[in-house]
Amino acid sequence: MPHTWMITGANRGIGLALTMELLRRGDHVVAAARNPWGGALGELAAAHPAALLPLELDVTSDESVAAAKGALDGRPIDVLVNNAGIHGPRGTESALAMDFDVWREVFEVNVYGPLRVSQALLANVEASSGRKIATITSRMGSIGLNPSGSLAYRSSKAAVNMAMVVFGNAVRARGVAQLLFHPGWVRTDMGGGGADIAPSESAAGLIATIDASGLAQTNSFRTWQGEPIPW
Ligand SMILES: NC(=O)c1ccc[n+]([C@@H]2O[C@H](COP(=O)([O-])OP(=O)(O)OC[C@H]3O[C@@H](n4cnc5c(N)ncnc54)[C@H](OP(=O)(O)O)[C@@H]3O)[C@@H](O)[C@H]2O)c1
Repeated sequence: MPHTWMITGANRGIGLALTMELLRRGDHVVAAARNPWGGALGELAAAHPAALLPLELDVTSDESVAAAKGALDGRPIDVLVNNAGIHGPRGTESALAMDFDVWREVFEVNVYGPLRVSQALLANVEASSGRKIATITSRMGSIGLNPSGSLAYRSSKAAVNMAMVVFGNAVRARGVAQLLFHPGWVRTDMGGGGADIAPSESAAGLIATIDASGLAQTNSFRTWQGEPIPW
């Protein structure tokens, strides 16, 4: 019996790689993106009409999230993956000179987005047998790893870790597991061409680790290979 996964930011990078890997092994995917019809995701949707549902979703918009929830019409979601994220324009902010508009925008996508989507689709996740919500954050959000630079991005990932742990404690009694992952340093538009691993490698590791996780792992912060990361 295939499971249904929903991936935000499914049109490129790690989100697209997750979608491809899940389809390859026979799962169903709700592929959410601001434009889910064009490019590689559009081609994938045409090739997998039964297994892939393209869904328009801007994680920063209450209206867009409500419309996506309506389009799902109560469909159970076994695993919701909050993957959409931005770094913000490089060189526009620093510890000594912050562009507050940039910081606000990064928080809109990376912090408010995952909680907005998770709250809206909690009933869909609860209605499934999988009952997992995974958020792709970053080891750059770890305070314990003595951070410097990328203040907007790092603080957004630290904030989403906290927000999702509080959310995780609220949904634990409903049988929903909340998981936080660093996907590795991945060769995507965000990670750059010199990064360590291919999107397919990150996706395969994330899926295997999510498969092996449940309520016992709720509120953990781990790598794509399941190794713990200091907060
Ligand atoms: N790559 C790395 O090395 C790395 C390391 C640590 C953590 N991460 C995290 O992994 C996740 C995926 O990163 P990536 O490397 O795949 O990045 P990416 O290639 O830049 O892709 C980002 C994705 O997020 C989507 N997105 C941005 N704003 C959105 C919004 N308002 N609503 C819906 N979707 C939105 C983008 O859609 P559009 O095409 O519409 O812009 C795109 O699909 C992010 O959360 C990132 O912080 C990545």
